[in-house]
Amino acid sequence: MYNGEKLNPKQFVATAIEEIKAQVGNDTVVLGLSGGVDSTVTALLISKAIGNNLVCIFVDHGLLRKNEFEDVLESYKGMGLNVVGVRAADRFFAACKGIVDPELKRKAIGKTFIDIFAEEARKVQDAKWLAQGTIWPDIAESHSDKGTIKSHHNVGGLPEDLKFGLVEPLKYLYKFEVREVGEELGLDKYFLGRHPFPGPGLGVRCLEELTPERIHILQEADAVFINALRAEGLYDKIWQAAVVLLPVRSTGIKNGARTYENVVALRAVNSVDAVTAEVVHLPMDFLIKVSEEIIAKVDGVNRVVYDCSPKPPATIEWE
Ligand code: XMP
Repeated sequence: MYNGEKLNPKQFVATAIEEIKAQVGNDTVVLGLSGGVDSTVTALLISKAIGNNLVCIFVDHGLLRKNEFEDVLESYKGMGLNVVGVRAADRFFAACKGIVDPELKRKAIGKTFIDIFAEEARKVQDAKWLAQGTIWPDIAESHSDKGTIKSHHNVGGLPEDLKFGLVEPLKYLYKFEVREVGEELGLDKYFLGRHPFPGPGLGVRCLEELTPERIHILQEADAVFINALRAEGLYDKIWQAAVVLLPVRSTGIKNGARTYENVVALRAVNSVDAVTAEVVHLPMDFLIKVSEEIIAKVDGVNRVVYDCSPKPPATIEWE
């Protein structure tokens, strides 16, 4: 497969299709869709090779962006993918109850995801293969020689009775190459240009314990930021933007009265492969406007800060 030289997307697609056909034959493949570019491109590629023998499972862990589950599910149907949508927010919040440590939280989200995915996969008759949208930086960062930096979660570690073989056609590609392959497969520009979004979703942007109330605050603030970036024509110039809900309160004044409320941090970075990232110089006027809009519209937030930390030493996500 791809050997690290400049990618020829057309040739990559043609070769990958043949390899997938040879690997899985007439067997059924299950795949976890996340709404992100990687899993979507993986799904399109495999569906091109084996059609309806691909069954996609899209789990709503309650940690997606505002309205994301409904919107993305609709888009997937339009792409002709065979998708089972599973709403499971309650189970994720229950699994994360009381957890503050970021790695324990990632593990709880990952394990719950696997449990739900396994339940759904068992319902798929004759499924023999598991497809994943793993890309090269996921592998590189999870197995760094300096030890695990963050446990990126894919669906690895399924229960013993689900002895699936793995299909990971993008595993040697960087993100920008995945986008080239997606374009070759006719993936919509809006979808292709979506910023990367972590598997554990807003869970790693809501510091300390996850509760539906805190995630709701984050979803609302995130929607204001992302919509403003789109409205100002900035979204497509940025590699990734995020809002993070901090575990601190600060004093403020609203309508002449004292408030003691949450602080959110805005983050916008540029990167090629997520291994390093630089801070985007967003215009100060824009930042102030977004800050005012968040404070006015999002109940429970009275302060907004901008994260000016490059990676390294900071990582892109805060947890
Ligand atoms: P960090 O925070 O490690 O993030 O600098 C690098 C890139 O990876 C995304 N990310 C994840 N993606 N599962 C994913 O699929 C994860 O667990 C995960 N954690 C971080 C992050 O959004 C950034 O693009």
